[in-house]
This record gives sequence, structure tokens and C-alpha cells, in this order.
Amino acid sequence: MDSPQVQLTLRIVPLIPVPKGVTHAPKPDHPLLAAALALTLSGAGIAGPREDQLSQYASAAKAADPKFAGFSAERGKTLHTQAFTGGKPDTPSCTSCHGKDTRGAGRNPSGKTIEAMAVSVTPARYTDPAKVEKWFKRNCNEVLGRECTVKEKGDWLTFMLGQ
Ligand code: HEC
Repeated sequence: MDSPQVQLTLRIVPLIPVPKGVTHAPKPDHPLLAAALALTLSGAGIAGPREDQLSQYASAAKAADPKFAGFSAERGKTLHTQAFTGGKPDTPSCTSCHGKDTRGAGRNPSGKTIEAMAVSVTPARYTDPAKVEKWFKRNCNEVLGRECTVKEKGDWLTFMLGQ
């Protein structure tokens, strides 16, 4: 049987022809291209799990308060960085574990490293709605001493998606 290496090479090479005279093929992971793609996708209204979850939170927030006028990254940032007194004393803030820099790694009280919360650094973040809900529940109780409201969750997620 052929080695997988050989098969892979034969299959992929014809798909990426390098045009004559081009010395630097464009990199698909270029930040500008990624940003342009993200804009195109959001402009076209193509939703992923994060957008779906956000719009579910928005519907619930609207149902709870007819005056709800959309999520705010600014309020989300405040929620993330603010120190609360209602939860566990050793974790007064989201940043107690996730760190002050959203693009840097965090650390929980037992010393275990937590990958950066910013989607730009950890692209798999918030793609599993059940995981997001599970940790919101656990961490809000830990920090605020209560569950977060849908508005708080939507604000926080909006803030993180822009990080
Ligand atoms: C006691 C430490 C700790 C605190 C405090 C904490 N978190 Fe977390 N958080 C974790 C850990 C551990 C995970 C799971 C590991 C991972 O996703 O990398 C996590 C994951 C999450 C996730 C899921 C991420 C995903 O990829 O789906 C969300 C959402 C979240 N936290 C929100 C918050 C919010 C909001 C606060 C503040 C109210 C907060 N966390 C405070 C430890 C903490």
C-alpha cells in the first residue's frame, strides 16, 4: 500500500498552482484576508454557532425587557474586569482566572493554564453553545454569586468576539 504521505502530495499539489512571476503566494491566514472574509461572511448574513447563540440571547433579553436595545461590548468589558463581592473571595472577577489580557493565557486557582479567551487567539472559542452555557453558569456563580442574566452573557460574548 502507498504511504499516506505520497497520496497526500499527489492530491494537494495540483490544487495550488503558483502563477508564473509570483514569488510570494498569498497566505490564507493573513490577518487582512481573514478580516475581509469575516466581514464578507457577516455581511452575507451567514451565521455560525456564536452568532446563533448571540441572537438567542438577544431574543431572550428582548422578551425580558422590551426596551432592550442590543448588546454592548463596553458593558461586557466592565463585567469581565469588574471586582464583585457576592461570589468566592479568591475569585472576585472573571480576570481572576482568565487574566487581564484577553489575548493572553489565564490560570485557574489550582494553577492550570487556561487558553486565551480572545477568538483572535483561540479560534475554537464559543463554538459549542453547551460549553458556553455550562461555563457561564459555573463561573458567574463563582464570581458574582449568582447566574448571569442573558443580557450580561450577550454583552460579555459581544466583547470577547471583538477581542
Ligand atoms: C475559577 C476560575 C474562573 C473564573 C473566575 C472564570 N472562569 Fe471562565 N473558565 C474557566 C475555565 C477553567 C474554563 C474552561 C477551560 C477553557 O475553556 O479553556 C472557562 C471557560 C469559560 C467559558 C467557555 C469558553 C468556551 O470556549 O466556550 C466562558 C463563556 C467563560 N469561561 C466565561 C467566564 C466569565 C463571564 C467569567 C466571569 C463572570 C469567568 N469565566 C470567570 C475558569 C474561570
